[in-house]
Amino acid sequence: MTRVLSVDPLNPQPDIIEEAAAVIRRGGLVAFPTETVYGLGANGLDPVAVATIFTAKQRPSSDPLILHIANRNQLDAITSTLPDTVQILAQAIWPGPLTLVLPRNERVPLAVTAGGPSVAIRIPAHPVALALIRAAGTPIAAPSANMFSRPSPTRAADVLEDLDGRIDLILDGGPTIIGVESTVLSLISNPPTLLRPGGLPLEQIEALIGEVLLPGEGEASDHIVAEGETAPAPGMLLKHYSPRAHLIYLVHSGQASESLPRALRRFAHETIAAGKRLGLLLPDESLALLDDLPAERYNLGSQADLSAIAAHLFAGMRALDRAGVDTILTHDFPPSGLGRALNDRLFRAAEGKTVEL
Ligand code: TXA
Ligand code: MG
Repeated sequence: MTRVLSVDPLNPQPDIIEEAAAVIRRGGLVAFPTETVYGLGANGLDPVAVATIFTAKQRPSSDPLILHIANRNQLDAITSTLPDTVQILAQAIWPGPLTLVLPRNERVPLAVTAGGPSVAIRIPAHPVALALIRAAGTPIAAPSANMFSRPSPTRAADVLEDLDGRIDLILDGGPTIIGVESTVLSLISNPPTLLRPGGLPLEQIEALIGEVLLPGEGEASDHIVAEGETAPAPGMLLKHYSPRAHLIYLVHSGQASESLPRALRRFAHETIAAGKRLGLLLPDESLALLDDLPAERYNLGSQADLSAIAAHLFAGMRALDRAGVDTILTHDFPPSGLGRALNDRLFRAAEGKTVEL
């Protein structure tokens, strides 16, 4: 039922794009690559088509969706009064991994915004995504193309694993480059609020527009509720991006009562002694400390390159699940740049349970 079409990620074939665009125009569902993760797209101005996204991925309709556009000229059609910061950010970052939450206008179906007064928008930096939006002739509403609460898909095979038979078409443009979702920034508040750390580091945003509030910082959380945001961003829900296996997530607290190498070995030994199958979701440097132990290993890449780690994080969770491990041992990363997004996804995958070192 779900067709998969291979498409050239750099020079997408026009006939394939047209076929996918026709599916979008008639109200169907198409999964497509972006630079962050695969999206599950529908016509963003058609409330019936948008509703099928929620059914396909079993996502609560209280979670609003991102509208993907191809061009800044499309902004006026879907937003009302824009703050000046939009032009600064759009000019510098779009197309790119930044989603802006802006005042919606009445053309945007409430199914997209979960009934709220704001709409999330981004221009993705991927030739396939851009070609599809242009050919469809409409903004495309798209969450990540995973079953609700599963790790986001970074390959067409991940989409198929979760959604085979539930959607019309998958455009397979190979693995995504960034591997974690876009950074979500609300421009409804002043200063703006970071709603989800992601593929665009916070430091880059601050360099462009100055102070940004973090969730729960200052008035940020109050403000979101006061503005009538229907629910906390689902990216903020615990038990999100979760593998099936239980996660042991070691976090540096700054107190360092036990060193990381010691803690890794202790938890690995305890898991094995309990008769559980152990999975290691770790960077190269940490895996090397556990060479001698029986475990399923997923090498995230070198800790010195957080963008490589990001590109492998969700794929690693899925690979260890497929290998059938009971417990996954992992740890945090330095909390700047992409490290913020990595730690956020790991924290949620661990359902908010951390082991402080
Ligand atoms: O990289 C990405 O952002 C991917 C690709 C496909 O573009 N999309 C994605 O969508 O991750 P999704 O639905 O999985 O996550 C969108 C996030 C959610 O945390 C949602 O709550 C938040 O954006 N969001 C969407 N509309 C919002 C709004 N009006 N106000 C506040 N948060 C919103
Ligand atoms: Mg998602």
